Amino acid sequence: MKMKMRKFVTCLMATLLLASALLLMSCGNAKTETKEDVPVTSENEAAGAEKVSDKDISEPSGRTKIGIIAALSCELEILKEALTDDVVESLAGTEFYCGTIGNYDVVLMQCGMGKVSAGAGAQAMITAYNPDYIINTGCAGALAEELAVGDIVVADKTVEWDLDTIDIGNPRGYVSSLDKVEMTADKDLSDKICAVFDEEENVIRGMVVSGDQFVDKPEQRELILSAFPEALCAEMEGAAIGHVCEQNGVPFCVVRCMSDNANGDSGVNFAEFSEIAGEKSASYLLAFLNA
Ligand code: ADE
Repeated sequence: MKMKMRKFVTCLMATLLLASALLLMSCGNAKTETKEDVPVTSENEAAGAEKVSDKDISEPSGRTKIGIIAALSCELEILKEALTDDVVESLAGTEFYCGTIGNYDVVLMQCGMGKVSAGAGAQAMITAYNPDYIINTGCAGALAEELAVGDIVVADKTVEWDLDTIDIGNPRGYVSSLDKVEMTADKDLSDKICAVFDEEENVIRGMVVSGDQFVDKPEQRELILSAFPEALCAEMEGAAIGHVCEQNGVPFCVVRCMSDNANGDSGVNFAEFSEIAGEKSASYLLAFLNA
């Protein structure tokens, strides 16, 4: 009986020893997965970005970093081509093109059309890359009489014209999270961009309005202009980017080249001129970055 008891105790102790050893080993494995031990090669990887190319821009340059957002690929192409030391990273379903142009570090992103895509893209860019400024570029439909296809608008303010809580007592475009309607573009940045336009260009500074609708019907024009008589042009992203930038304290500006007159012909004009207009706006941004 005594013998059996001794065997049982020895067996129990051996089992306990084995279990402790296994536990220690598994703790060791878990430690290799803690955040401290994962090599973080750049600030954006820490925010969840996945590298698509193998270069690394993790070294902070100490230079001004400019984020540029456009809805369409044709509105970004020449800037992408001009990037040097570029890296492509994927985050939140979008690719970010990081590199340098002139004296600036630059992050480019094509967000797609509409306010949600633009706002989400701007937030992802700010969270992952912490740009000093964000510029939105592209084409737009002219609302003001003095604008024609090919002319340029540089925003001094932006408004989300289709944001409608009027029935509960707010003005059209009211952004409750910021308790205001108009987002203010950065004047210094806008001034610097305006300095690069050719003298013969018709460049007007003022209000840019954005909505989740392509504006081509008289009733859309009337609605926009009755609420915002100073609106110069309509597009679908700028004010959402302005909204997110203001919420994050990032200075922004919007540069748009007119592709149509936001009227009955705008579908046809957009098809014909959006590429030319988008490229023209981007080419001036390129001149600004290289100035
Ligand atoms: N972008 C270019 N033209 C536009 C229009 N007419 N409405 C909305 N966005 C535009």
